Amino acid sequence: MDRNAPIGVFDSGIGGLTVAREIMRQMPKERMVYFGDTARLPYGSKSQDTVIRYSRQIIRFLRTQDVKAIVIACNTASACALEAVKSDLDIPIIGVIYAGVRAAAKATRNGKIGVIGTEATIRSNVYTRALKQQRADLEIIGKPCPLFVPLVEEGLWHDSITDEVASRYLSSLKGKYIDTLVMGCTHYPLLRSTFRRVMGEEVALINPAYETAIELKELLEENGMSCTQEPGEEQYHFFVSDRAENFTNFATAILSNEIKETKQINIEEY
Ligand code: DGL
Repeated sequence: MDRNAPIGVFDSGIGGLTVAREIMRQMPKERMVYFGDTARLPYGSKSQDTVIRYSRQIIRFLRTQDVKAIVIACNTASACALEAVKSDLDIPIIGVIYAGVRAAAKATRNGKIGVIGTEATIRSNVYTRALKQQRADLEIIGKPCPLFVPLVEEGLWHDSITDEVASRYLSSLKGKYIDTLVMGCTHYPLLRSTFRRVMGEEVALINPAYETAIELKELLEENGMSCTQEPGEEQYHFFVSDRAENFTNFATAILSNEIKETKQINIEEY
């Protein structure tokens, strides 16, 4: 294993850039190959079998880039595919769920945790199972919020329409007096200020993207896999399965200067 090899990071599209951004911030030396499956998103409304098939193809592509570890930077793919793909691999792979669960179980005081995500993530019950494994007495209230992804992708991060949708989605969680809310979808940390307004100051907002970067850092350090070289020109590489222009426009809003070039590949070949 080459400790200076890149980390492979993938998502159904642009949302995983919130995870990439945290990795860049917390591990500024690491190299990264990011793949966004922009031709086949959203994953959140797909079946588990389809998400597993897509994830396997992407992992095969990332292996051609000689990555040393893989991060599934997508809640839906982590929920539906992590367990299935783990056994195929001889390099470490993590999803975004475990780290968020660990942080939520630590943060709650009254034991009532809300989890918001795509239909597929909430349907999978993975968050509930993982939280209960941490602490059996926790009460978990899951809520699918499918409109948030298109609202974020339309750029309506700070907009009264988004506030209105958030008030409706989150009212059932407020009614259960949760004190911790897991933002269980890659796009949701971009709506943090809306959630803060709707839920109030007392509710802890858990960002799995941030927590996953911490988990990755620990994993690399414990296994002697952290990059030791100073970063060069070619630190980050971005690949997508649909038009690169669409990705780059949105991506620069999240990662201001890091995206020099995005390449389109045919993921069905892998
Ligand atoms: N990246 C997905 C997730 O975190 C959201 C977008 C999609 O549905 O593909 O669940």
